[in-house]
This record gives sequence, C-alpha cells and structure tokens, in this order.
Amino acid sequence: MSGKRTLLNLIIHCLLQAMAFIFLLVLSALIFTAEAQQGQSNIVKPGSLLTPTSTTNSSWLSPSGLYALGFYKQGNGYAVGIFIEGISQKTVVWTANRDDPPVPADAILNFTSDGQLVLQSAQQGTKTSIANSPGVATSASMLDSGNFVLYNSDNSTIWQSFDQPTDTLLPSQHLLVQKVLSSSVSDSNHSTGRFLLLMQQDGYLAMYPVGTPYTIEYGYWNYVTPGQENNAKLNLDDNGHLYLDSINGKAGIVDLNLGDNSTRGLLYLLRIDADGILRLYSHNMDQNGTWSVTWSQPDDKCAPKGLCGLNAYCVNTNQNFGCNCLPGFALINQSEISSGCERNFTAESCKASMTYIMEAVNNTVWEDKNISVLSSSTQEACKAACLQDCNCDAAQFKQGECKKQSLPLRFGRLLESDPNIAFIKMVRPSLNAHNSASKLEVTLILLEKPTTQLPDSSLITPPPPASPGLPKEDPSVFSFLQPLLGLSHLISFVVKLLAFFQSAAHQKK
Ligand SMILES: *[C@@H]1O[C@H](CO)[C@@H](O)[C@H](O)[C@H]1NC(C)=O
Ligand SMILES: *[C@@H]1O[C@H](CO)[C@@H](O)[C@H](O)[C@H]1NC(C)=O
Ligand SMILES: *[C@@H]1O[C@H](CO)[C@@H](O)[C@H](O)[C@H]1NC(C)=O
Ligand SMILES: *[C@@H]1O[C@H](CO)[C@@H](O)[C@H](O)[C@H]1NC(C)=O
Ligand SMILES: *[C@@H]1O[C@H](CO)[C@@H](O)[C@H](O)[C@H]1NC(C)=O
Ligand SMILES: *[C@@H]1O[C@H](CO)[C@@H](O)[C@H](O)[C@H]1NC(C)=O
Ligand SMILES: *[C@@H]1O[C@H](CO)[C@@H](O)[C@H](O)[C@H]1NC(C)=O
Ligand SMILES: *[C@@H]1O[C@H](CO)[C@@H](O)[C@H](O)[C@H]1NC(C)=O
Ligand SMILES: *[C@@H]1O[C@H](CO)[C@@H](O)[C@H](O)[C@H]1NC(C)=O
Ligand SMILES: *[C@@H]1O[C@H](CO)[C@@H](O)[C@H](O)[C@H]1NC(C)=O
Repeated sequence: MSGKRTLLNLIIHCLLQAMAFIFLLVLSALIFTAEAQQGQSNIVKPGSLLTPTSTTNSSWLSPSGLYALGFYKQGNGYAVGIFIEGISQKTVVWTANRDDPPVPADAILNFTSDGQLVLQSAQQGTKTSIANSPGVATSASMLDSGNFVLYNSDNSTIWQSFDQPTDTLLPSQHLLVQKVLSSSVSDSNHSTGRFLLLMQQDGYLAMYPVGTPYTIEYGYWNYVTPGQENNAKLNLDDNGHLYLDSINGKAGIVDLNLGDNSTRGLLYLLRIDADGILRLYSHNMDQNGTWSVTWSQPDDKCAPKGLCGLNAYCVNTNQNFGCNCLPGFALINQSEISSGCERNFTAESCKASMTYIMEAVNNTVWEDKNISVLSSSTQEACKAACLQDCNCDAAQFKQGECKKQSLPLRFGRLLESDPNIAFIKMVRPSLNAHNSASKLEVTLILLEKPTTQLPDSSLITPPPPASPGLPKEDPSVFSFLQPLLGLSHLISFVVKLLAFFQSAAHQKK
C-alpha cells in the first residue's frame, strides 16, 4: 500500500518537475523570441524589403511602435515616408522625394545588399534613392524619436531623416541655419506647397511664400532672438517648448509653464500647414484624441502671401479665410478655394472691336510691381491710362499715384485700412447683349475724354445698399449694372463659402 503510494508520489513529483521544466523552457523561448522580434523590428539589415500591400512588411517600426517608415497611401498610389503609427489618427511627418508622383502597388522599397535604400517600380521602370547617403549603409533603424537613420559598418550615422525635414519638426529635431520647413499642398497631398519657414543666417526665423526672394517685402512673419544671434537653430523639445538656440543661449518662442506637469503624456509636433500658418500641435497619448493646436502664428489667416493663388484676394472670415476672384475672373478649379482665378473671357488683342471697362475693387493690397507709374494722378485718369494701354491689365491707385500692372496679380488680400483702389480691366459685361450700342458710345466718350469728370448722376441709378464684407463697386457710367453685379457677387460669394465649408468638412474627414 505505502509502496504504491510512494511510487505514485514519485511519478507525480517527476511529472510536476517535467512540467515546470517545460514551462520554463517555453517561457524562456517566448522571452527570447520577443527580444529577437523587437531587435528585428528595430535594426533593419540590407536585403530587407517593404511592399505597399504586404500585411507584415509594409513598414519598419520603431521599438515602441510609435513611428514607422514605409508606404502610405497617396493619391492613386503610394508614397514612402515616416508616419506616427501608434495613434489612431495616423499622421505623416516626413515624405521621401515628396514631389515625385506616387508609385503603384508593385513598388518595392529595397534596402539593397550593397547598402542603398532604393524605391523601385517594375511597372514604372523606375529606381529612386530614398536617402542620398555618401556611403554604404550596413544597417538602418527607425528610432522612437521619429528619426530614421542609416549607419555604416562603424555604427556612425551616414544619413538621417531629421536632416531633411519636409513640413514637420519633431521633438529633439533641429532646424539648422539655412534649412527650411515647406508646407504640403494639402492635408492629403504631401508634395511641396506654397509656404516655407526659414531659419535665416542672420538669426531670424521667418516665413515666406515659396519661390520669392528672402527679403522683407515678401516675408509674412518673423521672430528673432533678442540679441539677433547669427547661426541660431530652431528646437522643439519633448515638453513642447519651441525655442531658438545660439551660442549665447536660448530664446523661447513658445515657453509652456515649465513647472506644469500637464505636458507629460503629450506628443508634440511643429508643422507649417498648407495654409501657411505655423502650428504647434499636441496629442494626448493616453486617450484616443485628435491633435489640438497649442500655439500658432501668424494670427491673421490672410497674412500668408498668395494664399488665394493668382488674381484672387484673401478675405478674413470668422476664424478662417475666404478667397475672392477679381471682377471678370473665375476660380480655376471650382472645388479648390485656393486654386487662383483666371479671366473668364479670352483677352483679345487690344483692338477697337473689344471694349473694356475698368472695374474697381476697394481696399485691397497686392504685390508691389508696375509696368509704369503715373504720379499726381486722379482715379479717372488712372482708369483711362490703363484702358488705353494694351499692356495694362490693372491699375493700383493710392494717394494720387497710379501703378499700371500686367497679369497675373499676386499676393492679394482685403485690408480695410488700406486706401488703395484696384482698377481691373475687364470686358464689358453687356458686350454680347443686343442693346450694346449706346454703351459702346459711352465707352468711346470715356476713351476720348479720360480725365474729365463723368456725368454720374444723370445716367445712374443709385447704388444698392452696401452689403457688409463684399467688395464695393466704383461709381461709373455702368453703375446701372450694379444691382446685377452686386447680386452675382453675392451669389458667387455664397457659392464660394459653401464650397469652402464643404472642402473644410471634407478635409476634416
Ligand atoms: C517579411 O520580411 C522578412 C525579413 O525580411 C521575411 O523573412 C518575411 O518572409 C517577409 N514576409 C512577407 C509576408 O513577405
Ligand atoms: C499633389 O499636388 C501637386 C501640385 O499641385 C500635383 O502636381 C500632384 O499631382 C498632386 N498629387 C496627388 C497625388 O494628387
Ligand atoms: C534589390 O536590389 C538588389 C540590388 O540592386 C537587386 O539585386 C535585387 O534584385 C532587388 N530586389 C528586388 C526584390 O527587386
Ligand atoms: C553596432 O551597434 C550594434 C547595436 O547597438 C552592436 O550590436 C554592434 O556591436 C555595433 N557595432 C560596432 C562595430 O560598433
Ligand atoms: C512634476 O513631476 C515631478 C516628478 O514626477 C514631481 O516631483 C513634481 O512635484 C511635479 N510638479 C508639479 C508641479 O506637479
Ligand atoms: C483607441 O481606439 C482603438 C480603435 O480605434 C481602440 O481599439 C482602443 O481601445 C482605443 N483606446 C482607448 C484608450 O480609448
Ligand atoms: C465673366 O464674369 C462676369 C462677372 O464677373 C460675368 O458678368 C460674365 O458673364 C462672365 N463671362 C463669362 C463668359 O462667363
Ligand atoms: C479640382 O480640384 C479637385 C479637388 O482637389 C480635384 O479632385 C480635381 O481633379 C481638380 N480639377 C482639375 C480640373 O484640376
Ligand atoms: C516701378 O517699377 C520699376 C521697375 O520694377 C521700379 O524700379 C520702380 O521703383 C517702380 N515704381 C514704383 C513707384 O513702385
Ligand atoms: C470705394 O471707395 C470710395 C472711396 O474711396 C467710395 O466712394 C466708393 O463708394 C467705394 N466703392 C464701393 C463699391 O463701395
């Protein structure tokens, strides 16, 4: 009896020990694989490939899984970039070769055995380098800071995405002297857009429209260290402090309360947005939140020059902006508020057969350029001078000075405090109407006697009550058209507003 029990005990004991051993074995194996997998996802070796549609190999993750480098959807294809993977609202922070067209689904990101990072597409027959590194990379790593780094055999960094920013600056990334952040075309198109933030040699951090000289006339925002230090760099830290850093110390642009721990658990990024506004965003990592704007500049939504495109002017609305076309112009793309405007008629050569009028737009400012300037002018003389000049498309009249201009007009905005009047040459609206003869006559009078005061009151019906926010017409011989023009302006304004809110709502999605 006892012998049997002892045998049973022995068997149970052995079984237990075996189970414990197996358990330990499995556990250690699990730990080992976990470590190995983490290592694999962090250090990328030559021979690794990514493809857009692969479920497992479409990106390389940072150790924590917060950032990823890989393919993301762009237009009808894919782009390669770095995005914040670890939050529900995936956010692109960097794009490789951002102005290249998207690649099709057959594309491969090839970390070649000879140490290059190459994007290849058989269908397109293309091979483009993602990182123009001077040497052979033997490993690569997506870091938890959001920096993607290529190393050589000495483990020295030979290339890093932090040195090639697109529109976003991440915590611990610097914007060095003469480097820029350039806005994207839109939230969904990461090609180079219209605005840039430049860290200037002279210590100024400044914003400009893309393609303009870096001079004060074109800048629309700047910040400088109090001592105006040369060779300053822009920094963002983990707590959302944004500051310029030079040999003489730090100058805070955004100093959040340092004693406040509320910034813990927040992820920050600085981005120059498609609308030319520089925004510091924060995201609460503990919640499935969205990005919120912690700070932004400039406050004036119409400050970014050229926001509305060519031949259009920016109008501040509540918390936002709208774009108006010049009279006689229409939006190039009805579904894009900032697409700019083009003449809705083909300007024929400056022949007598085509009759033009000058339409006034009050209180707008434009790029300061001219084809010629008349000083000590009057409004009527200014209009007439432009009408008679085949090269003149518009005239800016301000304080007795008349600047004749040719198209396109850039950087337009409404500025109620500015006394400028813009006269825009446009084809007479009623030219195709049957009763055009009498008006033609009046135009001829205007051409013959450019400087005389016109017999306003006799011909004209009283102007319609001014509607707030709408551009006002200049009293002229054709003021009888005003109710019509006013109505069409109102309709087009409402249509634009609707289109704008629609596109804003669309973008939010
Ligand atoms: C993903 O990449 C790894 C290593 O490069 C490879 O072993 C694996 O087969 C790939 N998986 C797929 C689904 O392609
Ligand atoms: C992005 O915008 C650029 C410039 O407007 C345009 O050429 C390009 O086709 C757009 N890309 C996509 C994917 O829509
Ligand atoms: C990756 O690039 C290497 C070197 O150019 C090439 O030999 C290899 O075939 C490429 N891999 C794929 C899947 O195309
Ligand atoms: C490079 O870094 C890796 C990982 O940190 C390490 O295992 C390896 O020994 C390093 N190699 C050299 C040559 O320093
Ligand atoms: C902030 O956090 C630190 C460490 O967690 C703590 O010592 C300090 O008292 C906190 N400060 C405030 C103002 O809550
Ligand atoms: C966040 O959202 C994801 C899905 O979008 C959900 O699975 C997860 O539970 C959410 N987490 C929190 C903390 O709400
Ligand atoms: C051009 O626009 C004006 C108003 O700005 C309008 O009166 C005219 O009919 C339009 N012409 C064409 C051809 O669409
Ligand atoms: C107009 O803009 C919309 C929205 O961005 C775009 O889908 C469409 O292709 C554009 N149309 C033209 C003719 O460019
Ligand atoms: C007119 O344009 C010329 C050439 O661009 C420039 O030199 C001149 O200063 C301008 N005149 C005014 C009054 O803006
Ligand atoms: C434009 O401003 C002038 C004064 O400079 C004013 O007389 C005129 O009525 C304004 N035009 C409109 C359409 O409001």
